[in-house]
Amino acid sequence: MDRRHAAERILKLRKEIDHHRYLYHVLNRSEISDEALDSLKHELVALEDEFPELVTADSPSQRVAGAVLKGFKKIRHGAAMLSLGDVFSSRELAEWESRIKKLLSRGEELDYFSELKIDGFAISLVYENGVLKSASTRGDGKVGEDVTENIKTIESVPLAIGFRDGMEQDREIRALASLYPRAVRAVKNLGRTVEIRGEVYMAKHTFDALNREQEKRGLPLFANPRNIAAGSVRQLDSKITASRRLDFLAYDIVTNLGQRTHEEEHIIAKLLGFRTDPHAKQCHDLSDVEAFWKHIFSIRDKLPFLIDGVVVQVNENAIFDKLGVVGKAPRGAVAFKFPGREATTIVEDIQVQVGRTGVLTPVAHLRPVDVGGVTVSRATLHNMDEIERLDVRAGDTVIIQRAGDVIPDVVRVLKNLRLKGLKPFHMPRVFCGEPVVRPKGEVLHKILHPDRCALVRRERFYHFVSKNAFDIQGLGPKIVDRLIDEGLVEDPADIFSLEEGDIAPLERFAEKSAENLIRSIREKKKIELPRFLFALGILHVGEETAIDLAGHFGTLEKIRAASESELSSVPNIGGVVAQSLFEWFRKKENEAFLKKLKDSGVHPKEAKVSRKPKKFAGFTFVLTGALRAMTRDEAKRRIRELGGDISGSVSRKTSVVVAGEDPGSKLDDAKRLGVKVASEKEFLSMIGE
Ligand code: IVH
Repeated sequence: MDRRHAAERILKLRKEIDHHRYLYHVLNRSEISDEALDSLKHELVALEDEFPELVTADSPSQRVAGAVLKGFKKIRHGAAMLSLGDVFSSRELAEWESRIKKLLSRGEELDYFSELKIDGFAISLVYENGVLKSASTRGDGKVGEDVTENIKTIESVPLAIGFRDGMEQDREIRALASLYPRAVRAVKNLGRTVEIRGEVYMAKHTFDALNREQEKRGLPLFANPRNIAAGSVRQLDSKITASRRLDFLAYDIVTNLGQRTHEEEHIIAKLLGFRTDPHAKQCHDLSDVEAFWKHIFSIRDKLPFLIDGVVVQVNENAIFDKLGVVGKAPRGAVAFKFPGREATTIVEDIQVQVGRTGVLTPVAHLRPVDVGGVTVSRATLHNMDEIERLDVRAGDTVIIQRAGDVIPDVVRVLKNLRLKGLKPFHMPRVFCGEPVVRPKGEVLHKILHPDRCALVRRERFYHFVSKNAFDIQGLGPKIVDRLIDEGLVEDPADIFSLEEGDIAPLERFAEKSAENLIRSIREKKKIELPRFLFALGILHVGEETAIDLAGHFGTLEKIRAASESELSSVPNIGGVVAQSLFEWFRKKENEAFLKKLKDSGVHPKEAKVSRKPKKFAGFTFVLTGALRAMTRDEAKRRIRELGGDISGSVSRKTSVVVAGEDPGSKLDDAKRLGVKVASEKEFLSMIGE
């Protein structure tokens, strides 16, 4: 290729590569696969190798890691990089407001801007004539380290800023432009130098993948995404930084581009091509700020990165500047932190719990402790392997962690605080009068004959009436316990012959609630077949399997009469499940239980047997984030009606990931694996809404 054609091709390739980078790393969308994009980059690098004089600083090829540095150069910040004061409660937040109000003149109105406080590493970017010139760490606030080479490897950092071709066609950008004309003017008239600050971070799923890799190689695990983001930015070998797949979110425009509010800075950053916090929001007053904090607190586990609170700042830049700095923090901003997720406490005892399949789970009974705003008194220890790994004993001081909505976990034992003579825990050999076994090759201990254990029977009872099974309102485990303890029922079939008068006399059981309970029980005598099947608690028969069985056979009688090979010929049902089902229906006590249900008037409705292929047949859906138009259960029902399957995790086999509001890491998984992502709107049109 001659030089002129090469130059043309290079320009086109750069634009195309940058377009896909922007889509993927800033807008979370993708139009082409990673492989296709790599192949474009490959061609670009080859052409630039041939014509080195055509290389420019903003070429995507410049993201490729360079030589190993001997040390970092220093960069003096034009404006100090400050830190933030912390507040931990509404009261402290109000105190902050009254402190700043005292410094304002009468008539100066305050409004705020609230955004996520990302748990990462602050970076300052300087663009000259629109092209990234340098990137530096905070350092001591005045002088930082030059980490330009490393930052260039981060794909969400634009190498060149400004309006992108076609940006005006984007609906969101058009809407922003019409709402914020001053921001548009700022972007159109960029001065020579523009300085932008933001946070470098590692997404949760990247961190998890990295640690899985470390584990595979027998290397030590990284403690948290923040440390590794910081460590990766301060690498002398930018190849290492590149391999860590970091991200960047912009939150501050230091240069005066005519912006009047902090909100406008976010808009400008977005128009310049940065990723910004989509939750960030202008707040009229502190009650708005608190509502924002509460909302973010409730969704924080669904976010793709870690945050440790929200940043609240005075929105008007003129007032923010006037408020000045105290120590190393601006007066006009605070970090409104979340309560910590870890706490230490004492293991008072280790007890064993049995589940409805007879599996034994060791549970740490703790001295009650507040973790992240919730009192915790129990933590699962999972299994014997985990207990041995932690070497946790009754009497130990432990670190408890509450990650998300999941059950609290014991993270670590503080061995230095251990008293002498604490005994290691052993699984009992006998539980509930039954021998305990640990089948070869399995981690879990079980009791040999779960059917004979009264505690297992109770667990099965709770399951039978639970939300996704018979869904009997007002009949939670506590009431079930009382009914059993009073001798009113023995098994779940007995509830259908209960009368109001049987339960009303029970202590604290008001007449009204007795009446309601009996009514909700009776309403469930006619029940959908999948729920009925799921309620039986047959080993390996979850909700999806129950739906598949009902859809294939139509009636309970036909499922009962089916041979093992007929069962295993049902789509999605394998040999293990078929065997479990077949054996369950052959047991005398189960036959008796089914008869008892029938005699009490419980009838599963006949299910529609679907023979003709449905719209979603063979499609697997994964749902993430909240939907506006319907609940998640409703969405699942619609997908199933159309013949689709639902899965809880994304794999290459997933057909579509439906991403609602605040999608979680499943969206990242989908993008990584190149799985189709549908917005709520697209999903609604797929299901014909
Ligand atoms: S504003 C005056 N906004 O928190 C300081 N900081 O504790 C300007 N951080 O060094 C910071 N997310 O590393 C701001 N949305 C956000 C932030 C944020 C994370 C970090 C940043 C800063 C530290 C201050």
